[in-house]
Amino acid sequence: MEVTHHHDAHESHEMADHGREHHVEDWNDEDFVLSWIERQKARAPERRRQFAKLRALIPRKPEDQFRYVNLGAGPGFLEEVLLEHFPHAQATLVDGSLVMLGAARQRLESYGSRVEYVQANLAMPEWAGAVSGPFDFALSSIAIHNLRNPYRIRALYAETYHLLGHGGMFYNLDYVRPARPSLAPLGRWVSNDAEADLSRGGGHDMPGTLLEQLVWLSEAGFACADVVWKSMNTVILCGLRDHLHMPEGEGEEHGHDHGGGEAHAAH
Ligand SMILES: C[S@@+](CC[C@H](N)C(=O)[O-])C[C@H]1O[C@@H](n2cnc3c(N)ncnc32)[C@H](O)[C@@H]1O
Repeated sequence: MEVTHHHDAHESHEMADHGREHHVEDWNDEDFVLSWIERQKARAPERRRQFAKLRALIPRKPEDQFRYVNLGAGPGFLEEVLLEHFPHAQATLVDGSLVMLGAARQRLESYGSRVEYVQANLAMPEWAGAVSGPFDFALSSIAIHNLRNPYRIRALYAETYHLLGHGGMFYNLDYVRPARPSLAPLGRWVSNDAEADLSRGGGHDMPGTLLEQLVWLSEAGFACADVVWKSMNTVILCGLRDHLHMPEGEGEEHGHDHGGGEAHAAH
C-alpha cells in the first residue's frame, strides 16, 4: 500500500462535476468529499446509465473471472454495478484520498476480499508500483482530468498500458475540452433541454480535446485508441492493448484484431 501524499495534485480550480460552478476541489478534505458524495445522489440516474455503459463494454460473460483496476475510483459507485453483474471479478481501487477510500470500504464491505484498496497519487509515476498487474481491464470515471497536466496524463496512459495483460482494455470515462473554445457555451446550453439527455460535463479548462486524448492513448502504446461513446464533452475513451478478446463464439468473424486497422483494397 502506497502512501504518497501530494496535496497540490488534488486541488484544482476546475468547473464542478456539471461544468457550472467554479470552486476548488480538495479530495483530501473530508467535508468536501462527503458533500461531493452527497451531491451525486441527485445525479444517480445519469451516473447509473454511464456506469451501465462501462459494464456493457466489458466483453466478458457474468460467470467469467477477471481483474480490473479503477483509477481514481472514489467511493466505489462503479464497483457496485460491476461486482454485482460479474460475481467473479476482482477490483483494485486506486485513489489518492483516504476519505474516498474509507467511503468505498464502507459501501463495498459486502464484497470482502474481491476488492483491494490502494492509496496512491496518480500524479506521480510511483502509483503503478503500488498495484500488482497484470489486469484484464483498467477503468476510470471522471477522475483523470484532475491531473490537469497533459504530459502527466499521457505518462499515466503509458503506465496503465504496462499494467494490462494480453488482450487488456482501458476505458476512460471523462471530460474533454471542446474542439474550439468558442464551442464551450454550447455545452451548457444543451442542458436547457432535459429530454435531449445531453451531458453537461467538461469545458474549456479540461486538459485535452477528444483528438488530443486519442493521440495520447496511441503514443502511450495502445494498439487501438477510439472513442466508444460521446455526449457533448463527456466521452468514453477506449485503449486496446493488442487484441480484442471476446468470449468464445462471440464476434471473432473478422479474425483476431491486432488493432492496427484492416487493410482495404483501393477502389
Ligand atoms: C470526481 S471524483 C470521481 C470518483 C469516481 N471515479 C466516480 O466516478 O464516482 C474524482 C476522484 O479522483 C480522485 N483523485 C483526484 N486526483 C487524484 C490523484 N492525483 N491521485 C489519485 N486520485 C485522485 C479523487 O480523490 C476522487 O476520488
